[in-house]
Amino acid sequence: MRALVLGGGGREHAILWKLAQSPRAPELFQASVNRTAHGLAQHADINPDCPARVVEFVERRGIDLTIVGPERPLMEGVTDALRKHGHAVMGPSQAAARIEWSKAFAKEVMAQAGVPTAASETFTDPDSAKECVRKRGAPIVVKADGLAAGKGVTVAATVEEAATAIDAAMTARVFGDAGMSVVVEDCLVGEEVSVFCFTDGVNASPLIAARDYKRVSDGDQGPNTGGMGGYSPPPYWDAALERRIRETCIEQVLRQLAAMGTPFAGVLFGGLMLTEDGPQVIEFNARLGDPEAQLILPRLENDLLDVAEAVAHGGVGALDLRWSPTATVGVTLASGGYPGTYETGKPIHGLDALPDGVTPFYTGVGEDDVGAPVTDGGRVVTLVGHGATHAEARRLAYDAAAQVRFAGAHYRRDIAAFAGE
Ligand code: AMP
Ligand code: GLY
Repeated sequence: MRALVLGGGGREHAILWKLAQSPRAPELFQASVNRTAHGLAQHADINPDCPARVVEFVERRGIDLTIVGPERPLMEGVTDALRKHGHAVMGPSQAAARIEWSKAFAKEVMAQAGVPTAASETFTDPDSAKECVRKRGAPIVVKADGLAAGKGVTVAATVEEAATAIDAAMTARVFGDAGMSVVVEDCLVGEEVSVFCFTDGVNASPLIAARDYKRVSDGDQGPNTGGMGGYSPPPYWDAALERRIRETCIEQVLRQLAAMGTPFAGVLFGGLMLTEDGPQVIEFNARLGDPEAQLILPRLENDLLDVAEAVAHGGVGALDLRWSPTATVGVTLASGGYPGTYETGKPIHGLDALPDGVTPFYTGVGEDDVGAPVTDGGRVVTLVGHGATHAEARRLAYDAAAQVRFAGAHYRRDIAAFAGE
């Protein structure tokens, strides 16, 4: 059994780590631009965003199953290309993944499906967008329609800030074509939660939930990042909330996509705000979250290979997905200066002797000439503690964070702060 994972971040490390535990002992490959130093997979030096190269690699190496990590290969049509050539893949079609790569399309689908979400309008010219902002007033949210590497959303406190965001996206085109249209939407207030469901397009699994921390500094201060840590499950998560979100937000959208002739088979990721008026969808993604994958996969009791095959081949209805009732807390160590400019190549100490119950997932860990670990990215490693309680998981993660050292390292001190010291 040979499995290929596309993508080179912490999420993909977590996927490979989980696949490596399969009793079926798959031979693992990873296609990514940078080689990561976790040693779990053979590195495929191909661009995961290029469908033709991925198909060629899969055929040359006899890959049985491909798992797509990030969003870009989905938008480029890698799953369609693989399926066309008869290869198994976990990931939705390009048309179904549009729920992530066009925010305007996502709002349309949500409206048709009757899914609770912020009121919004979509614009293709900046003047009308600004007029809408003035009419609706601040706070207000401006979103570039297309993929913008997680930077396309501005939660604007003032009308002026929103207008600046509209100019940046539509006139200066700082996100390229992703900013040809923008969505202007009302600002939602509440607790954020990420929910995930595995689906083959017909049947969908129950939801698993996690929380991520996007801002660089404690108390959700400072600029947005690719994620500074998180935990699973949220302390308030229960069967009633799971069912409510599944029935009002997730299953509706899956039915709507199927009715449109573009069934979604893969992992559907809902980013929600739990508002006073109930759960509302902020966005949909067409993949596992990062860092959420690093927090939920250690809680998955099934063989991920079985799960991925069920998604790829249409067996989710028969899948008995089991999540351990334990908690995970992840703390991300970042390079000095991140998310601004930072240096790489700093030796990393303490990674080799982490306590039991802590798993390190690499986002930017490379090797020097003699194979010793060095920093190789803005975010370097997420230390995930796994415990019977959030407090225990948190203690493990922070003990590990104090032990892993490299010049300039910084991390948030308030991940899962509700669980105490
Ligand atoms: P995204 O890039 O779509 O993940 O959005 C980034 C972040 O912007 C989300 O995680 C939310 O914190 C925030 N956000 C997006 N839409 C809204 C909204 N309508 N109201 C409040 N916050 C929002
Ligand atoms: N953690 C948010 C994302 O993966 O988009």
